[in-house]
Amino acid sequence: MIFESHAHYDDKQFEEDREALLLSMKENGIGTIINVGSDFRGCLETVALTEKYDFIYGAIGIHPSEIADFKEETCQWLKEKAALEKVVAIGEIGLDYYWEKEEEVQKEQRYWFEWQMQLAKEVKLPVIIHSRDAAEDTLTLMKKIHAEEIPGVIHCFSYSKEMAAEYVKMGYYIGIGGVVTFKNAKKLKEVAASVPLERILLETDCPYLAPEPHRGSRNSSLNLPYVAAEIARIREITPEEVIEATRKNAERLFMQKA
Ligand code: NI
Repeated sequence: MIFESHAHYDDKQFEEDREALLLSMKENGIGTIINVGSDFRGCLETVALTEKYDFIYGAIGIHPSEIADFKEETCQWLKEKAALEKVVAIGEIGLDYYWEKEEEVQKEQRYWFEWQMQLAKEVKLPVIIHSRDAAEDTLTLMKKIHAEEIPGVIHCFSYSKEMAAEYVKMGYYIGIGGVVTFKNAKKLKEVAASVPLERILLETDCPYLAPEPHRGSRNSSLNLPYVAAEIARIREITPEEVIEATRKNAERLFMQKA
């Protein structure tokens, strides 16, 4: 069974068929799903999904592009809900300088990224990190706060294989999704080839980033076999080996409460 480490089933794009789609996961080989909150509403809905479906676990956190959601009660809520049995990670958190060019706001992103990293340390949960066009600042901040003491994954990895090696050295996992199947994704294919297999997680980031041959359409965990097949092709192993190894990796990282 496939372990889907990063999905957003709270997204509006699933409104029409969410229930039917989620109920079809098991028969299609998707065993476990981590639903990841990115804004406050998404975190509330993530908790609701974990209560409704036995195979869905949740990550709660505020995405760098959503930090306007941070209010006094947000901090308190995150602290409280982190204790729930099926909340297994803090995320997604991090830095996004692709969508945010203003230095003042980037500084605020760093503040809330650090705050949420400290929260993860305090509640003893792993982190799911989003980092886009902010490679240096992400690594610098993580070194400063001794992120090697906080387990986690760099999701939707978009940097070089050298940078991937830096994160692996810190004990981090590398999340790989649909982008690896794109013809022009040379950098990510190199990452998929060079990172140790026991450090790779399968993810979709659905509804975004559907793999080939469905690029551009709404994504779901049902497309993960295409991602596994491409990683297998690159590494010259079988898709089953990729699925088995990444499931074990995800369980090692996320299923500490189970
Ligand atoms: Ni995401």
